[in-house]
Order: sequence, then C-alpha cells, then structure tokens
Amino acid sequence: MAKILSGKELSTKMREEMKQEIVDLKDKYDIVPGLAVILIGDDPGSLSYVRNKEKACASIGLVSRKYEFGADYPEADVLKLIDELNQDKAIHGILVQLPLPDHISENKVISAIEPDKDVDGFHPINIGKMMVGSPIFLPCTPYGIQQLLLRNNIEIEGSHVVIVGRSNIVGKPLAMILVQKKPGGNATVTLCHTRTRNMGDITKSADILVLAAGKPNSVTADMIKQGAVVIIVGQTWIEDKTRKSGHRVVGDVDFDEASAKASAITPVTGGVGPMTITMLLNNTIQSAKRYAGIE
Ligand code: GUN
Repeated sequence: MAKILSGKELSTKMREEMKQEIVDLKDKYDIVPGLAVILIGDDPGSLSYVRNKEKACASIGLVSRKYEFGADYPEADVLKLIDELNQDKAIHGILVQLPLPDHISENKVISAIEPDKDVDGFHPINIGKMMVGSPIFLPCTPYGIQQLLLRNNIEIEGSHVVIVGRSNIVGKPLAMILVQKKPGGNATVTLCHTRTRNMGDITKSADILVLAAGKPNSVTADMIKQGAVVIIVGQTWIEDKTRKSGHRVVGDVDFDEASAKASAITPVTGGVGPMTITMLLNNTIQSAKRYAGIE
C-alpha cells in the first residue's frame, strides 16, 4: 500500500511555525506581513483557492485583502489597482488569481506587479532569477511539491522526474527548480506535454511522476512504474448532483489505481493544494522581512 503524502498534515506543521514567526515579527519589529489577492470572474476552482488562501492567512495572523470583481472588469482598472498596491507599504505580496478572463492579458498583468512583491514568482524577472539559481520567490505549487518530497525523505537527486503538463504555473517552473545544481535539485527531468510521443514509455521510467496536465484520467495505472512516487497536481471540478456542493474534484489519474502501483502518492485533495497555500504564506512572510531589511 502506498504511503500517503499528506500536504494537509505537513502544512499544519509548517503553518504553526509561521504563526510563531509572525508573532515574533510583530513583537520585535512591529511588522505584520500583508497579502493582496485579486480575483476576477467566477471560476469555481479559483473561488475555492482564494477562499482557502484567506482562511489560511487569518489562521496564522497574516493580513489579507481580497479584491473581487466580475468577469467583465476592465484590464486598465486591474493595472491601476496593481500600481496602487505596488506603492502600498502595508502590502508585501500581490497575487492575481489565474486564469484571467480572455479580455485581460495575463502577461501584462503579471509584468505590472513589482517583482519584489510578486509572491507567486511569475514575473519575468523572477522567472529569470529562478532559472539561474538565485530566486527571490519560487512559484508556490512547484515549491510546495519540492518541500513535500524533501520533508518525506524522497530522494530527488539523481532521480528521473517526469512531469506531465508544461504550464507556466507548475510544469515549466518545477522542471527548472528540480534540475538546479543544489540541495533539493540535481534531478534528471523530462517534461511531457500534449505533443509527446509514446508518453507511456517515458512515464514508466519515472522514479517521481508529477501529473500536472489538468485532464482527468489522462494517465492510467499501466503508465506508472511499480514503486514510483506519484504527485497529483491537476484538479478538475466535475459537476456532481449527488454531492451537497454540486461538484467533485478529480485528478489526472484514478487515485485507487495509481496507489496500487506507487510507493508513495499525494491525495487529490489535501495533497499539493494546501502546500501551494503554505508556500504562498511563506513567500509573503519572507517578502515582509526583505522589505524590513531583516536577514
Ligand atoms: N491558479 C492556479 N494556481 C495558481 C497560483 O499558484 N497562483 C495564481 N496566481 N493563480 C493560480
């Protein structure tokens, strides 16, 4: 039976430490880290993530401000708000929830965020710094996956990590982080995507298989090596009238089938999701400390 890699449990532990760090920052330096979250539209996944982010901030004493707008909110107004938040001394992190409605340019919006407040690590400057191995902020989902592996004593160095999905949020930055010549890196990374030929042959050679395509059942158990570590990132909200919430969340692989093959696996919920939020909290605290000149 596969070991369950619980992001929820690890997050609880890490957030307890952060809670204490926030008390110390307030006591010693009179600093309270502040995060601004901008949400545009009503994507159910985004609404759920933003709600969880708010709850997480409150639970550790981090100040969060939410800006929520309808799907037709103009791009110019988003850019204006970002400009104001860039100047706001109480805000150390700015996050614009993705995806954005079609009329808003993701590139323009991300590039408008002051790189020192870009706690998502998506700004081109921060991506460049990450690539050369001297990051300010690591993107939260890849960073959370790396921490989940390290803190469960899963060997990254020398392992073949196969990532399915080449998004800017997960696949590409994760490949970049795990290939770095430093502790927590040194993996051999293969990045698979929709045009990859014979994907099963590649995934079957993975010591660590990361599923980040966001397509239910795009990977099947026969594509997994016996004893591999399986990280399920992709989540899809499927309508389900039998549930009180009206939906259920499914991963890119059937969890039961995959766990019969894997030596360790993340649950579809309570796995990578909470780690993403935990690393966002971490990045915001680190940002507040940088602004204050601490460490
Ligand atoms: N949408 C899905 N994941 C993320 C994330 O990590 N950051 C932002 N801003 N949007 C997301």
